[in-house]
Amino acid sequence: MKRKVTKAIFPVAGLGTRFLPATKSVPKEIMTLVDRPLIQYAIDEARAAGIEEFIFVTSRGKSALEDYFDAAPELEAAVRRKNNPELLDVLKSTTMGSGAIAYIRQHKPLGLGHAVWCARRLIADEPFAVILPDDVIAGEKSCLQQMVEAYQETGGSMVAAMEVPYDKASAYGILDVASEDGAKVKVKAMVEKPKAEEAPSNLAVIGRYILTPDVMENLNRMKSGAGGEIQLTDAIADEIAAGRNVYGYRFRGQRFDCGSKAGFLQATVAFGLARPDLCDEFSGYLEELMSLKNVAQ
Ligand code: G1P
Repeated sequence: MKRKVTKAIFPVAGLGTRFLPATKSVPKEIMTLVDRPLIQYAIDEARAAGIEEFIFVTSRGKSALEDYFDAAPELEAAVRRKNNPELLDVLKSTTMGSGAIAYIRQHKPLGLGHAVWCARRLIADEPFAVILPDDVIAGEKSCLQQMVEAYQETGGSMVAAMEVPYDKASAYGILDVASEDGAKVKVKAMVEKPKAEEAPSNLAVIGRYILTPDVMENLNRMKSGAGGEIQLTDAIADEIAAGRNVYGYRFRGQRFDCGSKAGFLQATVAFGLARPDLCDEFSGYLEELMSLKNVAQ
């Protein structure tokens, strides 16, 4: 039995410039799909996978995130007065117990690997998860939970993996596959943001990871990688070079790239349609919109 994964790192220090002006005063992770901030989807996924300690790597201007997870006694009292137990439950699900959540500052934007390294003291010698809240994954079973279960069989480090079009490979970490066993893929090399023509495959790393503490050791070397940044992909690839196993996991579920405007809009539509309280009205509206478009054409 492998050691249980109970800690997760959420790198949330990015400036979110792609979503300016919204992100001038609102952290990107607080932007909402229907009525829940991106970060809430990430937290719910982590909780479903058994995570108990939530480590946020933040930066200046992200204090709204800390408030979001705090207790909100005035709001709770107001909702109680309205006698709305469902809304009260929703509100309570956003509150983190004292000590369950920690905030670490990344002082300079030196890359994803560096952001993860900032949490090294809180991770100590345990395996840990990393969740990138920009990647929202909808599915019957939480993606991280699927990975935790697979990790119990494999050990080693594991990244979520999904095929992407070859011409998009340069936006991702890409896996070089040694062998496949169902959803599990044994990895023989990984490369961060390769040129399309140099990509070893079109199997991309998606923002869910289960990593062994050795990866933190590798990050200690502060190796500069793609874009001059300290890349998490490189620190995981170093594991393979050191003779340790690294796996990709082809998760079941639909991934939305909420780091891009188009992906964010797609997620908004998909999550809106999935909501029983909105589905009828919203799908009716979309049908109307599509028929108008067809008429115009
Ligand atoms: C990061 C990782 C990359 C991964 C991607 C998934 O890149 O560095 O390996 O494929 O997330 O979303 P970013 O999107 O932060 O540039």
